[in-house]
Amino acid sequence: MNIAVGGTGYVGLSLAILLAQHNQVTAVDVIPKKVEKLNNWQSPIADTEIERFLKEASEGKRKLNLTATTSAATAYANADLVVIATPTNYDARKNFFDTHFVEQVIELVLEINPKATMVVKSTVPVGYTKSICARYPKGKFLFSPEFLREGHALYDNLHPSRIIVGTPFEDMRAEAERFASLLAEGAEDTDVPTLVMHATEAEAVKLFANTYLALRVAYFNELDTYCEVRGLDTASVVRGVCLEPRVGDFYNNPSFGYGGYCLPKDTKQLLANYQDVPQNLISAIVQSNRTRKDFVAEEIIDRCRLLKEHGVKHPLVGIYRLTMKSGSDNFRASSIQGIMKRIKAKGFQCLVYEPTLDAPDFFESEVTHNLNYFNENADIIVANRWNDDLSSVSSKVYTRDLFCRD
Ligand SMILES: NC(=O)c1ccc[n+]([C@@H]2O[C@H](COP(=O)([O-])OP(=O)(O)OC[C@H]3O[C@@H](n4cnc5c(N)ncnc54)[C@H](O)[C@@H]3O)[C@@H](O)[C@H]2O)c1
Repeated sequence: MNIAVGGTGYVGLSLAILLAQHNQVTAVDVIPKKVEKLNNWQSPIADTEIERFLKEASEGKRKLNLTATTSAATAYANADLVVIATPTNYDARKNFFDTHFVEQVIELVLEINPKATMVVKSTVPVGYTKSICARYPKGKFLFSPEFLREGHALYDNLHPSRIIVGTPFEDMRAEAERFASLLAEGAEDTDVPTLVMHATEAEAVKLFANTYLALRVAYFNELDTYCEVRGLDTASVVRGVCLEPRVGDFYNNPSFGYGGYCLPKDTKQLLANYQDVPQNLISAIVQSNRTRKDFVAEEIIDRCRLLKEHGVKHPLVGIYRLTMKSGSDNFRASSIQGIMKRIKAKGFQCLVYEPTLDAPDFFESEVTHNLNYFNENADIIVANRWNDDLSSVSSKVYTRDLFCRD
């Protein structure tokens, strides 16, 4: 089958490689540098499995029928199936996802190849597929939620927790099953739980799944806030709580807040979808993340004030990594940025250690790649996640990473 994938980010690239094992795949992106890298079998993103698959393909050890292009029209013209994996950022003014990158692809496909089935893999508001079916009556659409984790994007598609495909019309069920079987064919696991459902339900699955994950992060963060204020040992409380098998000892490490590209925007979108539907919890999950960042920032600001009382005229706050997780190569919507913003609003200067950022400053704070310089000059070091880089200056470090894991 000829497949075009629009967008070569975490979602698009991992799917392009997964599907290129058994199909002819053309990956499309608007960024020429990404396309050039891919055509040289280099990954534009940090992902162990993607890098391994591309390297093996370049050495002739693995068959991948994959090419990349910026020429969307040519790619879509020849495709039986177009997978859409473009960004859906949250638009704070409209209080809704901005889906125009998805619609850019849809409109191009309808113009040059209206017979192609389009599978939206981007995360969309609940009801979106239904709305595009009305807006573009000639289009054939499916929605398939994506559950991968950044940094493990291809791994998570080779070993999927589940495959879900949503169809807006019952008469497209066979197409939905066909797409599900393409994903299953590329996976290394067999017997992957697979569900075909209405597209609106599949959209809800994605937002409810991410909001549950955000709830869990927020819960353990509020537990930690409570323990900190009341002088209790958070680690003991978490261990005790999580021995309950229905809670489980995982995904319970306190942090500065849930962050990354998906959880902050997906929770806000779900809340927006609740308009006119009674709820308390979904608002609380969104609100809880702000409260947590306020608390963490206040703890750091208190330490800065204490340093001032002890003669440090202008305490310099070291921001150890802007990334959300250890091993990550991007810092989209990372919670430490919210902490940094709050600290700076109170007049304290920051120094950022972020080796993946090729710029002299970040929001007017100096950026360094020199760890020794960073460790020596920062008066207090703020780290969402601990790293042994900080062992020699541990007395300066403020972190809530109690279990040294994501
Ligand atoms: N990152 C994740 O962990 C994750 C997980 C599940 C779902 N999602 C969802 O998947 C979607 C994509 O996320 P991502 O992290 O892969 O995004 P990304 O920003 O990493 O990649 C998107 C790519 O699309 C390209 N693009 C933009 N407009 C385009 C167009 N008109 N034609 C072709 N390419 C275009 C961009 O240049 C970029 O390379 C979002 O809706 C996101 O919410 C992301």
